[in-house]
Amino acid sequence: MPIKYFFAEKKRKTMAKVFITQKIPNAAIEYLQSHGIDAIMRNEVFPLSKNDLKNNIKNADVVICLLTDIIDQEIIDFAVDNGVKGFCNYAVGYNNIDVNYAKKRNIWVTNTPGVLTKTTAEMAWALLFSAARRIVEAHKFILDGKFRGWEATLLLGYDVSGKTLGIIGAGRIGTAFALMSAGFEMNVLYVDENTNSILEEKLNAKKVDLDTLLKKSDFISLHTPLTPETKYLINKDKFNLMKPNAILINTSRGTVINEKDLAEALKSKKIAYAGLDVFENEPLIEKELLNLGNVVLAPHIASGTKETRDNMAIMAAKNAVDIIQTKKPQNNVY
Ligand code: DGY
Repeated sequence: MPIKYFFAEKKRKTMAKVFITQKIPNAAIEYLQSHGIDAIMRNEVFPLSKNDLKNNIKNADVVICLLTDIIDQEIIDFAVDNGVKGFCNYAVGYNNIDVNYAKKRNIWVTNTPGVLTKTTAEMAWALLFSAARRIVEAHKFILDGKFRGWEATLLLGYDVSGKTLGIIGAGRIGTAFALMSAGFEMNVLYVDENTNSILEEKLNAKKVDLDTLLKKSDFISLHTPLTPETKYLINKDKFNLMKPNAILINTSRGTVINEKDLAEALKSKKIAYAGLDVFENEPLIEKELLNLGNVVLAPHIASGTKETRDNMAIMAAKNAVDIIQTKKPQNNVY
């Protein structure tokens, strides 16, 4: 009897199983168990090797995976051959999964949109203000015992109110981020394939081409998914277009920026500052960036609040339940 048939048969006779590749909030397990599903979660925060991933998913009906798990053609083939029905990504971004191939092999792929929108937009603002007002430098200044009292020219930053804000990618998160600028009365520019009528009506935002946005903006925030088209979208040529006072914020994916070119642009003061939550080769970070004063770094935590991470866990679990119940999952990405 072929292995494929053996596993499919075995699954039909036992409780449905969901394998969660790495530690996520228990809310996922609670939701799955309350639906009569056997949930197995690894208690680790790093991805499995390819072989270990295969060994762990072969008895699962659905896999809840993280953005650090690479779900490529080989894993998809293995999953399909072993009766896995879907990969539910615990993230809104799904560049870690070969979605086109998953579609071809007829296996579901879901993500967690919506629940992290405002949280991620808030983090982009946190980075923007940290950069504009040099908060990390100021904190270090005090810890280093350098504060001697008020000084007229100490750690001067950049005003935000009334400046030009450039949004690259005006989807859910880019839109939420832009709307939060209302109190700062900014001139909002955006780049997107589509016209964003919410931003145009509420903020009088203007849709422009990328180069115009880069030339005119004081603050530039990236909210585009990582695709072959957006890889290294911001590179040396683009830094050459930016203002010397430009502050660049990235909460999308690291590879949208060429990190070496960014380090060079910051070092040579081609741009003023950067606030980064994501990196090209996480957890590795371009060495130059670690030695610069004009960058504020965070370890990919833009969606990291207790409420949001719980909601993401429940959403991923709901998608898994839909798949097990042979319904179209609510957050299917294709
Ligand atoms: C995502 O969801 O894609 C973020 O990068 C992590 O929440």
